[in-house]
Formats: sequence, C-alpha cells, structure tokens
Amino acid sequence: MSIEMELDEIIERYKKQEGMLIRILQKSQELYGYLPLEVQARISEKLNMPISTVNGVVSFYSLFSQEPRGKNKISVCLGTACYVKGAQEILSAIKEELQLDVGETTLDKLFTLNATRCIGACGLAPVITINDEVYGRLTPADIPSVLYPYIKTHKKPAIPTAQLLMQICHTGYNNNEIIKLQKASGKVPAAFWCSLNFCALPVLI
Ligand code: FES
Repeated sequence: MSIEMELDEIIERYKKQEGMLIRILQKSQELYGYLPLEVQARISEKLNMPISTVNGVVSFYSLFSQEPRGKNKISVCLGTACYVKGAQEILSAIKEELQLDVGETTLDKLFTLNATRCIGACGLAPVITINDEVYGRLTPADIPSVLYPYIKTHKKPAIPTAQLLMQICHTGYNNNEIIKLQKASGKVPAAFWCSLNFCALPVLI
C-alpha cells in the first residue's frame, strides 16, 4: 500500500470522530515523521476544509512539525521552576554540544532540539526529555553523558560521504576507522576535536 493510500485510510478512519483534525494530524505525523505542506493539502482536500485551518492548527501546536525531525527529540523545559534552576544554561550546553539552535535538527538527523513549557516534573528541575525519557536535576556538565548513549547506539552510515565527515565523531568511529576514512577521502584531520570532548576523535573536514 502506498503512503498516500495509508494517509487516506487515516483520514477516512478518524474523520467522523470528535477532535478529528488533531487526531488525523497526529497519525499523519507518525506516518510521515512530520507534516509537509503536501500532506496538509491532502488532508484539507479530503476533509473539505480550508488549508489555512489545517496549517493554523499545525503551526499552533508545538507537537506538530512542518520540517523533518531527528530520530531523537530533545525537549528542554523552560517552565518557571526549571528556568529558576538554570534551564537556560542547560539549553546553551545542548546547543553548544550539538551545534544547533531550538527548532533545528542535526545534519545526521539524530537529534531535534525544542524548548517546552512545564512538563509536570518540577521537583526534578531543571529537566529535559529525550523522546520519552526524563532527565532531571541536570547541570551543563551532565549534558555530554546524557547525549552519549543516543550517539553511541546511532547506526553508522555504511558509506560516509563528504557531507557526513563533519559528523564522524558523533557516529562513533574509532581512530583506525578515521585513518581509513582519511586515506579513502584524501582529507587531513583538522586541528580541532570532537565537540563532545570525551571521545577525543579527530574530525575530518
Ligand atoms: S517547570 Fe520544568 S518541569 Fe515544571
């Protein structure tokens, strides 16, 4: 069955239910990973609803994304309790480690970073979630070790490309592999190191 047929099936299944637009958008996002305009247009057409209405809902709720998202979704709570306990510093540490801003996804599609409001775990402030896992009482120094298990289990690309070379240390290559890649690519190790520091692998550019 094509992905469009699956989308039509979702619309058909939920269109008579209460709150059907949110439900359809949620299921469509599970299917596509995000909600590109073509998908919104198809939903609007099938529901006989203006696309501005569909897009308005997609834009309003942070749970929906119009851009492809990473495999792991990081949400940094910026609610009052977390803010008071240093959430901004946690957010800055994550931005620094992954070299990305709020709403962005890493080049290897491993992480998407978002800011969120209180998630109801104020006793653990400052708090972040990665997918369904909650990490609390964090300091900026904890961030590398929190991120590392997600980076470590990331499947290495079979054939690294030039665009992926900047991400090599994040995909867990060891020194021998780096040397092999260096020989294959004809590129020299750059004079800086992995931004996660503790893996201390040279990065090729
Ligand atoms: S303010 Fe962050 S969990 Fe409540």
